[in-house]
Amino acid sequence: MEIPASSARTLFVTTALPYANGPFHIGHIMEYIQADIWVRFQRMQGHTVHFVCADDTHGAPIMLKAEAEGVTPQALVERITATRPKHLAGFYLSFDHWHSTDSPENVELSQDIYRRLKSAGLIYAKPIEQFHDPVKAMFLPDRYIKGTCPVCGAKDQYGDACEVCGSVYAPTDLIDPYSTLSGAKPVLKTSDHFFFRLSDPACIEFLRAWTQDGRLQSEVANKAREWLGEQDATKGLADWDISRDAPYFGIPIPDAPGKFFYVWLDAPVGYLASLKAHLRNRGIDFAQFLQDPNVDQYHFIGKDIVYFHTLFWPAMLKFAGVPYKVPDNIFVHGFITFSGEKMSKPRGTGISPDVYLDLGLNPEWLRYYLAAKLNGKVEDLDFNPDDFIARVNSDLVGKYVNIASRAANFITKNFAGKLGTPAESENDRANRLTIAQMEAEAARANYAAREYGKVLRDAMRIADRINEAFDAAQPWLLAKDPARRDALQTICSQSLQGFQLLTVLLAPVLPATASRVARDFFGLGREFVWSDAWKEPTAVAPYTHLLARVEAKQIDALLEGPKATSAALLQSGVTSAASPQSSAASRTESQVSIEDFAKIDLRIARIVNAEAVNGADKLLKLTLDVGEGRHRTVFAGIKSAYRPEDLVGRLTPVVANLAPRKMKFGLSEGMVLAASGDGPGIFLLAPDDGAQPGMRVK
Ligand code: 2FM
Ligand code: ZN
Repeated sequence: MEIPASSARTLFVTTALPYANGPFHIGHIMEYIQADIWVRFQRMQGHTVHFVCADDTHGAPIMLKAEAEGVTPQALVERITATRPKHLAGFYLSFDHWHSTDSPENVELSQDIYRRLKSAGLIYAKPIEQFHDPVKAMFLPDRYIKGTCPVCGAKDQYGDACEVCGSVYAPTDLIDPYSTLSGAKPVLKTSDHFFFRLSDPACIEFLRAWTQDGRLQSEVANKAREWLGEQDATKGLADWDISRDAPYFGIPIPDAPGKFFYVWLDAPVGYLASLKAHLRNRGIDFAQFLQDPNVDQYHFIGKDIVYFHTLFWPAMLKFAGVPYKVPDNIFVHGFITFSGEKMSKPRGTGISPDVYLDLGLNPEWLRYYLAAKLNGKVEDLDFNPDDFIARVNSDLVGKYVNIASRAANFITKNFAGKLGTPAESENDRANRLTIAQMEAEAARANYAAREYGKVLRDAMRIADRINEAFDAAQPWLLAKDPARRDALQTICSQSLQGFQLLTVLLAPVLPATASRVARDFFGLGREFVWSDAWKEPTAVAPYTHLLARVEAKQIDALLEGPKATSAALLQSGVTSAASPQSSAASRTESQVSIEDFAKIDLRIARIVNAEAVNGADKLLKLTLDVGEGRHRTVFAGIKSAYRPEDLVGRLTPVVANLAPRKMKFGLSEGMVLAASGDGPGIFLLAPDDGAQPGMRVK
C-alpha cells in the first residue's frame, strides 16, 4: 500500500562514524549498504530521510599516528577524508551529508550537552591514578602499556589482558611495565577526571524503561538487561569517565583547562553535528527539527559498540533535555566474516572495497549479495566467494534479467514496443495486479524490519514463477503463428509487468539498474515509486544489457588484493607470451596460448557518443556502454575514417580489461578494435545482429 501523505514521516538516520585513521574496510561498506537500502526503501515509501555520517577524528590513536608521520592530526584526518567520496559514490551510498567530529558544530554541541548534564547534577570530578609516560609527558591508555603477565610470566603482554594465558588484569598489575610509545617505565600519577553519573537512580530508571520497552532487537535488549544489573543486583552501571588529560586531540571541556572530552563522548554527538550542518545547508532549523514529533531518529551500528549506543548515548540525550531527542531505535548488525573466518588484513584474508572498485566490479553485485544475507538480527554474515558468484549469476542474471531480455525481444520485433494483454480477461488482469500489490506489501514489511534476505528470496520465487509461465506459454512458437499474436503479446506483457514489479522490489538494493529500467527500458522518464509495483508498463524499449555475470577470475583478482588492480597484469601477460623466453617449445614466437588469449576481456560496447578532440588530428573521443552501469571513455585513432555522428549507436568489440592509459586529453579506459591494411582505410569491427553491450567475445 502506498503510504498516504498524512502518515509520511521524517527520518534522521546515521551509520556509525568511522575512525579517520584509515580508509573504509569491507565492514564499513557492509553497514553503509545495510543502512542505504533501508533509507532508499523509506524514501520510496514517501518518507523524508536525512541520512548523514561523519569522520570520527578525535582520540589518542589518531593523535599518535599523526605524530609518528610527522603531520598534524588535522592533516592526517584530511588525507583520510579525501578517500571517502570514491567509496561513497562507488557503492551508491546515498548519504545526504558527510561531516567531521572535528568541526565547530561538534564543539558547540558537545560542550552544550556537557553543560546541561552538569546543570542536572550528573557530572562530578574525582582524582584518578594512572600510568604516565615521563618521556612523552602523557597519560597512557591501556593499549600503550606492555609488560610481563603477572599470572603466567609471558613477556610483552598488553596492559589489560594476556594473550598467552587469557588472564584479565589492570595495567598496574603488570610486572616490569613499559610504555610502547617511548619504552620508558611508566610512573603512577594522579589527576582529576570528570565522570557522568550513570549510576544515578534517575538514569538507571530511564535506561531500564528505554532498553526494555520492546524497541530494541531482543539480543540487544537482553545484553542491556545484563549491563543494567537486572539479573544480578551486585552488578550495575558504573559511572563513565568522560575526560582525558592533555596532550589529547579532542574537544576542550569548558572551564577545565588541559582537560578534553574522551573521544567516545563527542563521537555520537558527531551524528548531531553532521545533521546540524546538513539542515543548515537545507535552510532547516536544527532545534525545531529535533522537537518535531514527526521526526524519528535511528542509528545503524555494529555489535561491538552497543554499550555506547544503548546506555551512554540515550542517557546523554535524555538528561541534556530539550531540544535533544532520545533515539527511536538502534539497529545492530553482526560482523562480516570471510569463508567463516574473521576478516583480517595481517592474515591476508578478506576483501578490500578499494580493490573491488578498482577492478571495476559492479557495486550492485555486492549490494545484492550482502542484502541476500542480511536480516534484522545481530548475526554475523559470511562472505563466501563461490556463493557470491552463484547468487549473482543465477539469481540476478539468470532469473531476474533473463525475464526482461526474453520478453522484450518479442515485443520489440512483433509489436513495435507496445505492451498489452488482449488475451487476458479483465478479471484475470485485476487478480494479477492484486497479487502484485500483495507481493509488494510483503516486501514492504520485510524491508521495514531489515529482513532483506526474505525480500530477495521472495523476489526470486516471483522470478521463477514468471519464467515458468513464460516457458509454459512457448512464445517462440506463438511468434510463428499470426493467429496467436494476441497470446504472444499477452504473455510477454505479463512477464514485463512482473519484471517491473521485481525491479521496484529490488530498487533499494539495485538503484542504478532500477533507474535504467524505469527511465530507459520502460521510458517512464522518472524513477520508480513503490506503487509502480502493481502498475502495468505500456511500452518497452529494445532490450539493452542490464547486468553482466560475474566471472570467477574477477573474484580471484579481488581476493588477490591490490596487486591485481595494476591492470598491467594483462599487458605483461600478452607481451611476455610473445617474447622468446616465455614461449613454450611447441609454439612459434608469434603464437600465444589459449590461456594467454583468455586474459583479454573482449566485450561488446555500444558507442553512446563520439566527438572530435581539440588538438588531436587522429583521435575521436568515444563514450562507450559496456554494460557495466557506467560509461567509459576511450580515445581511438579513427578520425580519418569516421565522422563522429555516424558512430553513435554502433556496436563494436572493445578490450575491456586494458590498463587505463593517461593520455594528454584524458584517461582512456579500453581499446576499440579496427582492421587496417597497407592501403588507406580503417574499418571498425562490428558484431552480428543480436549482440548486446557487455557480451563477452571469445
Ligand atoms: O567504533 C568505531 O569505529 C567508532 N569510531 C564508532 C563511533 S560511532 C558514533 F558514536 F560516533
Ligand atoms: Zn599470562
